[in-house]
Amino acid sequence: MVNLLEPLMKKKVIVTGGTGYIGSHTAVELIACGIEVVIIDNLYNSDITVLDGIRAITGIRPRFYEYDLCDMAKLEEVFANEGKIDAIIHFAAYKAVGESVKKPLEYYRNNLGSLINLLAIMEKHGVASLVFSSSCTVYGQPEILPVTESSPVKEAASPYGYTKQAGETIIRDTMAARPEQKAISLRYFNPIGAHPTAHIGELPRGVPENLVPFITQTAIGLREELKVFGNDYDTPDGSCIRDYLHVVDLARAHVIALKRLLEGRNNSNFEIFNLGTGTGVSVLEAIASFERVTGIKLNYQIAARRPGDIEKIWADPSLANKELDWKTEITLDESMETAWRWEKKIRNQS
Ligand code: WQD
Repeated sequence: MVNLLEPLMKKKVIVTGGTGYIGSHTAVELIACGIEVVIIDNLYNSDITVLDGIRAITGIRPRFYEYDLCDMAKLEEVFANEGKIDAIIHFAAYKAVGESVKKPLEYYRNNLGSLINLLAIMEKHGVASLVFSSSCTVYGQPEILPVTESSPVKEAASPYGYTKQAGETIIRDTMAARPEQKAISLRYFNPIGAHPTAHIGELPRGVPENLVPFITQTAIGLREELKVFGNDYDTPDGSCIRDYLHVVDLARAHVIALKRLLEGRNNSNFEIFNLGTGTGVSVLEAIASFERVTGIKLNYQIAARRPGDIEKIWADPSLANKELDWKTEITLDESMETAWRWEKKIRNQS
């Protein structure tokens, strides 16, 4: 039988932010395809024990460097130790919208400085391929739904959002000047859920900002109640609408994007893909899904709108469906189920 994954075997890939939520799930999928994964992460927003979770699933503990990507000397050290690197998947970044408003320079320095260092070192060491972690946040509140990759990129609503827009611009300009290199930017909608084994998942620090960890922490008793931020939006049930996709589906898309680059099947040397399910789900529908699969009645209350929230957004993923032959496979209910399994696991409940 022909092994369709053959081109990926024996490749060595750096995953920055590989102990983070999406990075760790992607590391698992890469290892499952025979790729040698090297993780660089400064553990700013993740935990070293994630490496044990990756090992529990794959049998392999990736080599790990607790380095800051803004430190070029440390990056050079990784390349000196590792030798030839075939590609980089770049997740490492600060990601809290609210925090970015308070600490804009830290966001610009970290998110843009690390990307610039990576692009510089790629050229120096002949790394041809880059997959970049971008976000639907670049679209702001779109006028036309669902959003395609050619929907306008709106003025960023936060320094965080601007680092994703600027990051894409920096990559586009760099690729234009370097025909020997290629990059894919993946614009994620709302990743949720955890690995079905419950060995890895989302590990929010402090009070979660995102909906699903807040739901699971409320259900387990860590938070008293979930506040639903607004029920007077122009949506069928009045609550905001998002496109929630399972983190393992999202991780798989990175492997496919990487394979496309390594096999030279890209149409241009900078491509952008939306990654979402294509279906909008309201906050109240997300809560109903959680209640349905767990049998738990969630304690929630309608509260004021959250400043800066977008009313509704969901993806048109048809470009990724066609070009990457990728689509989401895990349902919202299954996603909630895995998120709950993970929450129980980390709180030592069965
Ligand atoms: C989802 C919905 C809230 C918490 C995310 C990322 C952000 C950016 C864009 C990443 C919204 C509602 C939430 C709560 C609630 N991209 N909510 N009560 O806002 O889409 O942002 O995607 O690159 O970084 O965080 O996701 O999970 O915060 O909110 O009612 O306690 O849930 O109002 O409608 P959001 P979210």
